[in-house]
Amino acid sequence: MKPTYLLPILPLIAASPAPTSHPSSNHKPNPNAAPGLGALAQRAGLLYFGTAIDNVVLNNTRYTSLAFNRSEFNQVTASNGQKWVHIEPQRNVFNYTLGDQIVDPSKKAGQMRRCHTFLWHNQLPDWLVTGNWTKQELLGILENHIRNEASYYWGDCYAWDVVNEAFNDNGTLRSTIWLDTIGPSYIEHAFRFARRYTSPGTKLYYNDYGIERVNNKSLATQTLVKDFLRRKVPIDGVGLQAHFTVGRSPSYADLRGAQQLFTALGLETALTELDVRLALPGNATAEAEQARIYADATRACVDEEKCVGVTVWDFWDPVSWVPETFPGQGDATLYRQNFERKPAYFAVADVLRAAARNGTRGRTGW
Ligand code: XIL
Repeated sequence: MKPTYLLPILPLIAASPAPTSHPSSNHKPNPNAAPGLGALAQRAGLLYFGTAIDNVVLNNTRYTSLAFNRSEFNQVTASNGQKWVHIEPQRNVFNYTLGDQIVDPSKKAGQMRRCHTFLWHNQLPDWLVTGNWTKQELLGILENHIRNEASYYWGDCYAWDVVNEAFNDNGTLRSTIWLDTIGPSYIEHAFRFARRYTSPGTKLYYNDYGIERVNNKSLATQTLVKDFLRRKVPIDGVGLQAHFTVGRSPSYADLRGAQQLFTALGLETALTELDVRLALPGNATAEAEQARIYADATRACVDEEKCVGVTVWDFWDPVSWVPETFPGQGDATLYRQNFERKPAYFAVADVLRAAARNGTRGRTGW
């Protein structure tokens, strides 16, 4: 073919719409119509705006077309797929099926991953919780678990939530199989194992809820971080889960103050599980308040130089963990059941757009 035939074709190729992989759905929002939250977050100077994704909804193509769209969400967290009960259901028998169902498509989509979580007191397999372990046995089990999962997901995770929810609200350590068998040192063992077995550069996080204000719990977390830094136990970040409720959520200033407990020590922060539940049935007033809370939380990350990004704990109401965990509450996410975007979605987008326009990222004043 002569070059003259080729030339006019090139612009046509460039301008043709991206092939859609879900031709059966007529009502699917066009993900390319406007920059999504992930793209806006990057323009605003964050690393990401992401979402948790649960395995139970992966057969819904309207859902997955948004979940694995890096313009909308350029970071994902497996809601459940990388937890101990699924990864090591029998002792030393590892099964990565559910984790891979989230990790593989997100890699194809060019999204980042926060990996969640090596050590928690929930969603543990029966063999682990019913075993009558000695301290040394349980440490061996912990090391083996972290070594296997970290090696399997080598290079796949921007960050790992190494330890999840170790504190009570009053700042004491929570009684768990870990604390009760190993003692308080289980936390530093987990971080040392994580550093030893994850790929270089993986950010190691402590992750918890209820630390979004300066309070006994966030201060206890700060004490832990200080101690780790002093003794050179590896830790890079603190994740503030940010499971909020309309009517009693932390303010913007609360969130700034809480993050600064950790950023002042040189750590990074992230809002790792943001959702804002309300009493059902919802109404326009509650939704407006919900939008304000989502926006303030996003702004509290944008304005904090060391806050790397925001992750919502799913973006679609029907798969949110809220209704079954907090009976009578719900509607906690950015998208309605019919995939319409709520006021909260647009409020978050506005915050990110304004930050991109004004270059306000990392502003230290309030
Ligand atoms: C939740 C999941 O969303 C649910 O599907 C599951 O049944 C329980 O766990 N804090 C965390 C998350 O760190 O792992 C939890 O996820 C929500 C609270």
